[in-house]
Amino acid sequence: EESYDEECDYLFKAVLIGDSAVGKSNLLSRFSRDEFRLDSKPTIGVDFAYRNVRVGDKTIKAQIWDTAGQERFRAITSSYYRGALGALLIYDITRRITFKNIEKWLSELRGFSSPETVVVLVGNKSDLGQSREVEEEEGKTLAESEGLYFLETSALENQNVEEAFLSMIGRIH
Ligand code: GTP
Ligand code: MG
Repeated sequence: EESYDEECDYLFKAVLIGDSAVGKSNLLSRFSRDEFRLDSKPTIGVDFAYRNVRVGDKTIKAQIWDTAGQERFRAITSSYYRGALGALLIYDITRRITFKNIEKWLSELRGFSSPETVVVLVGNKSDLGQSREVEEEEGKTLAESEGLYFLETSALENQNVEEAFLSMIGRIH
Protein backbone atom coordinates (compact mmCIF):
# COMPACT_ATOMS: atom_id res chain seq x y z
CA GLU A 1 0.00 0.00 0.00
CA GLU A 2 1.17 3.52 -0.80
CA SER A 3 1.00 5.35 2.49
CA TYR A 4 3.82 7.77 1.78
CA ASP A 5 2.82 11.36 1.03
CA GLU A 6 3.40 11.64 -2.73
CA GLU A 7 3.39 15.42 -2.62
CA CYS A 8 6.53 15.45 -0.52
CA ASP A 9 10.08 15.54 -1.98
CA TYR A 10 12.07 15.17 1.27
CA LEU A 11 11.49 14.02 4.81
CA PHE A 12 13.54 15.89 7.40
CA LYS A 13 13.81 15.15 11.10
CA ALA A 14 14.28 17.99 13.56
CA VAL A 15 14.36 18.01 17.35
CA LEU A 16 13.30 20.42 20.08
CA ILE A 17 15.50 20.68 23.17
CA GLY A 18 15.66 22.79 26.31
CA ASP A 19 14.67 22.79 29.97
CA SER A 20 11.23 21.80 31.19
CA ALA A 21 8.47 24.38 30.75
CA VAL A 22 10.36 26.64 28.30
CA GLY A 23 7.49 26.01 25.84
CA LYS A 24 8.80 23.30 23.49
CA SER A 25 5.46 21.48 23.21
CA ASN A 26 3.50 24.69 22.72
CA LEU A 27 5.88 25.95 20.03
CA LEU A 28 5.35 22.64 18.24
CA SER A 29 1.56 22.66 18.60
CA ARG A 30 1.49 26.28 17.42
CA PHE A 31 3.59 25.44 14.36
CA SER A 32 1.88 22.15 13.46
CA ARG A 33 -1.78 22.81 14.40
CA ASP A 34 -1.96 26.50 15.39
CA GLU A 35 -2.84 25.49 18.94
CA PHE A 36 -1.67 26.83 22.30
CA ARG A 37 -2.50 25.66 25.85
CA LEU A 38 -1.86 27.63 29.02
CA ASP A 39 -2.40 24.45 31.08
CA SER A 40 -0.22 22.02 29.08
CA LYS A 41 1.33 19.09 30.98
CA PRO A 42 5.03 18.23 30.98
CA THR A 43 5.93 15.88 28.13
CA ILE A 44 6.63 12.27 29.08
CA GLY A 45 8.87 10.32 26.72
CA VAL A 46 8.77 11.47 23.10
CA ASP A 47 6.09 13.07 20.98
CA PHE A 48 6.23 14.22 17.37
CA ALA A 49 4.32 16.16 14.75
CA TYR A 50 4.60 16.74 11.02
CA ARG A 51 4.17 19.73 8.80
CA ASN A 52 4.75 20.10 5.09
CA VAL A 53 6.79 23.15 4.19
CA ARG A 54 7.47 24.58 0.77
CA VAL A 55 11.14 25.54 0.21
CA GLY A 56 11.81 26.84 -3.29
CA ASP A 57 10.20 24.34 -5.66
CA LYS A 58 10.40 21.44 -3.21
CA THR A 59 8.00 20.25 -0.55
CA ILE A 60 9.68 19.18 2.67
CA LYS A 61 7.87 17.06 5.19
CA ALA A 62 9.25 18.19 8.53
CA GLN A 63 9.03 15.56 11.24
CA ILE A 64 9.58 17.40 14.50
CA TRP A 65 10.39 15.51 17.68
CA ASP A 66 9.60 16.86 21.12
CA THR A 67 10.85 15.33 24.35
CA ALA A 68 10.69 16.00 28.06
CA GLY A 69 12.95 18.68 29.49
CA GLN A 70 12.75 16.80 32.79
CA GLU A 71 15.49 14.19 32.95
CA ARG A 72 13.28 11.53 34.58
CA PHE A 73 10.75 11.73 31.72
CA ARG A 74 13.26 11.66 28.86
CA ALA A 75 13.48 8.78 26.41
CA ILE A 76 16.83 7.27 25.37
CA THR A 77 18.88 10.23 24.22
CA SER A 78 20.81 8.74 21.32
CA SER A 79 17.65 7.61 19.50
CA TYR A 80 16.10 11.03 19.99
CA TYR A 81 18.95 12.77 18.18
CA ARG A 82 19.61 10.08 15.56
CA GLY A 83 19.23 11.44 12.02
CA ALA A 84 18.24 14.93 13.14
CA LEU A 85 19.16 17.55 10.55
CA GLY A 86 17.83 20.50 12.53
CA ALA A 87 17.34 21.54 16.14
CA LEU A 88 15.58 24.31 17.99
CA LEU A 89 17.45 25.01 21.22
CA ILE A 90 14.91 26.73 23.45
CA TYR A 91 15.07 28.79 26.66
CA ASP A 92 12.54 30.92 28.53
CA ILE A 93 13.42 34.65 28.59
CA THR A 94 11.79 34.92 32.06
CA ARG A 95 14.03 32.26 33.70
CA ARG A 96 17.77 32.84 33.55
CA ILE A 97 18.54 29.27 34.61
CA THR A 98 17.03 28.00 31.35
CA PHE A 99 19.44 30.26 29.44
CA LYS A 100 22.43 29.11 31.50
CA ASN A 101 21.51 25.51 30.72
CA ILE A 102 21.70 26.16 26.96
CA GLU A 103 25.43 25.30 27.09
CA LYS A 104 24.57 21.90 28.56
CA TRP A 105 21.91 21.22 25.90
CA LEU A 106 24.25 22.35 23.16
CA SER A 107 27.01 19.99 24.26
CA GLU A 108 24.55 17.08 24.44
CA LEU A 109 23.26 17.99 20.96
CA ARG A 110 26.79 18.20 19.57
CA GLY A 111 27.66 14.90 21.20
CA PHE A 112 24.80 13.05 19.54
CA SER A 113 24.12 14.81 16.23
CA SER A 114 26.10 15.43 13.06
CA PRO A 115 28.15 18.64 12.69
CA GLU A 116 25.93 19.73 9.78
CA THR A 117 22.81 19.89 11.97
CA VAL A 118 21.24 23.34 11.64
CA VAL A 119 20.73 24.82 15.11
CA VAL A 120 18.50 27.78 15.93
CA LEU A 121 18.61 29.33 19.42
CA VAL A 122 15.13 30.41 20.54
CA GLY A 123 14.24 32.70 23.45
CA ASN A 124 10.57 31.89 24.04
CA LYS A 125 7.82 33.78 25.97
CA SER A 126 8.65 37.19 24.49
CA ASP A 127 5.10 38.22 25.46
CA LEU A 128 6.25 38.27 29.12
CA GLY A 129 8.55 41.28 28.73
CA GLN A 130 7.73 42.60 32.22
CA SER A 131 9.26 39.43 33.78
CA ARG A 132 12.26 39.28 31.47
CA GLU A 133 15.51 37.96 33.01
CA VAL A 134 17.50 37.48 29.79
CA GLU A 135 18.05 40.41 27.44
CA GLU A 136 17.63 39.83 23.73
CA GLU A 137 21.23 41.03 23.27
CA GLU A 138 22.50 38.16 25.46
CA GLY A 139 20.75 35.60 23.28
CA LYS A 140 22.18 37.24 20.19
CA THR A 141 25.71 37.27 21.65
CA LEU A 142 25.56 33.60 22.67
CA ALA A 143 24.24 32.63 19.25
CA GLU A 144 27.04 34.54 17.50
CA SER A 145 29.74 32.95 19.63
CA GLU A 146 28.36 29.45 19.04
CA GLY A 147 27.56 29.92 15.35
CA LEU A 148 23.79 29.56 15.76
CA TYR A 149 20.83 31.45 14.35
CA PHE A 150 18.73 33.33 16.90
CA LEU A 151 15.15 34.49 17.41
CA GLU A 152 12.84 35.42 20.24
CA THR A 153 9.36 33.89 19.99
CA SER A 154 6.00 33.77 21.68
CA ALA A 155 4.01 30.58 21.28
CA LEU A 156 1.16 32.33 23.12
CA GLU A 157 0.96 35.33 20.80
CA ASN A 158 2.18 33.42 17.75
CA GLN A 159 5.15 35.76 17.32
CA ASN A 160 8.08 34.49 15.22
CA VAL A 161 7.04 30.83 15.64
CA GLU A 162 6.72 30.29 11.91
CA GLU A 163 10.01 32.16 11.37
CA ALA A 164 11.88 30.01 13.93
CA PHE A 165 10.85 26.70 12.37
CA LEU A 166 11.18 27.93 8.80
CA SER A 167 14.64 29.43 9.36
CA MET A 168 15.74 26.00 10.55
CA ILE A 169 13.97 23.96 7.85
CA GLY A 170 14.98 26.37 5.09
CA ARG A 171 18.67 26.00 5.95
CA ILE A 172 18.69 22.19 5.92
CA HIS A 173 20.30 20.79 2.79
P1 GTP B 1 8.45 19.84 29.14
O1 GTP B 1 7.54 19.01 28.32
O2 GTP B 1 8.31 19.57 30.62
O3 GTP B 1 9.88 19.73 28.73
O4 GTP B 1 8.00 21.42 28.95
P2 GTP B 1 7.84 22.22 27.56
O5 GTP B 1 9.13 22.88 27.24
O6 GTP B 1 7.23 21.34 26.54
O7 GTP B 1 6.80 23.38 27.97
P3 GTP B 1 5.27 23.55 27.57
O8 GTP B 1 5.11 23.78 26.11
O9 GTP B 1 4.49 22.45 28.16
O10 GTP B 1 4.92 24.94 28.29
C1 GTP B 1 5.12 25.14 29.69
C2 GTP B 1 4.25 26.29 30.17
O11 GTP B 1 4.65 27.51 29.55
C3 GTP B 1 2.75 26.12 29.84
O12 GTP B 1 2.00 26.63 30.90
C4 GTP B 1 2.57 26.97 28.60
O13 GTP B 1 1.26 27.46 28.47
C5 GTP B 1 3.57 28.11 28.87
N1 GTP B 1 4.06 28.75 27.63
C6 GTP B 1 4.61 28.13 26.56
N2 GTP B 1 4.95 29.03 25.63
C7 GTP B 1 4.61 30.24 26.11
C8 GTP B 1 4.71 31.57 25.61
O14 GTP B 1 5.18 31.86 24.51
N3 GTP B 1 4.25 32.59 26.43
C9 GTP B 1 3.71 32.34 27.66
N4 GTP B 1 3.29 33.39 28.36
N5 GTP B 1 3.60 31.09 28.15
C10 GTP B 1 4.05 30.07 27.39
MG1 MG C 1 6.73 19.38 26.53
